[in-house]
Amino acid sequence: MEIGARLHHVQLLSLHAEACAAFYGRIYGMRVRVKGSMQICTATDRSLIISPGQSNRLGFAAYSFSSREHMERYRPGVAARTAVEPATSPLFGPECFSVTDPDGNSIVFGIAPAGEQSPQEPLPARLQHLALRSREPSKLIAFYRDVLGFIVSDRVNDSAGQIRACFLRTDSEHHTLAIFHADEAVLDHLSFETNDWLRLRDWADRMCELNVQIVWGIGRHGPGNDAFFMVRDPDGNLAEISTELEVCEPLREAGIWPHNEQTLNLWGRAIMRS
Ligand SMILES: [Fe+2]
Repeated sequence: MEIGARLHHVQLLSLHAEACAAFYGRIYGMRVRVKGSMQICTATDRSLIISPGQSNRLGFAAYSFSSREHMERYRPGVAARTAVEPATSPLFGPECFSVTDPDGNSIVFGIAPAGEQSPQEPLPARLQHLALRSREPSKLIAFYRDVLGFIVSDRVNDSAGQIRACFLRTDSEHHTLAIFHADEAVLDHLSFETNDWLRLRDWADRMCELNVQIVWGIGRHGPGNDAFFMVRDPDGNLAEISTELEVCEPLREAGIWPHNEQTLNLWGRAIMRS
């Protein structure tokens, strides 16, 4: 059964935290405020924290439960399988905990207070998933599936049967976490899901107006079937706008896709991570 927590915010580390925050503020219409060393970027349904550190690394990904009861039902099973630490995030209430995956990425679980609505935002898009690169995707997938209870929706295998990518969900949305085999363990991308085709068009037009080049897309991913495009933030992290992400039935069988460009983009060329 799906655990029901949803990606709520992500902490990115950056050698250029102010510049990155300014980019997300300007392009994604997020309000930026400073708290200590953190740049906190918020808009309706999308929040990021950008903190000083090694660029292209995840600080943490934060998943929100709908209630304290829900979180407290989830926590003991996780604590029985891995070390659970107290955690804090300025975007969560006081009761948070974190775990660390085999690549050293921190995942925080907590409860988000009711969000701010800001009517002057240019366009809707909800922070919906993130993707990580890993030298050892099998270990990472086993951790998220067997320790945290994420569900594998689709995997991408090469011709030798080795895993090259995997898409995992925590609710009915096809993936909230993607893992790509690569030669280093870094952040791959963040994704903001918008309402529909016309909004995807509007976001693409906005990128043009703001002189931000689309570096991949518009395309449609095989796994998840979402239409998308990607730009890069000042650190080179990919930032995706997507729409039409598949909604999964609870007992949907995990799919297996071949490792080729068409899997990652049904409509054309792909950024291959390995
Ligand atoms: Fe994505």
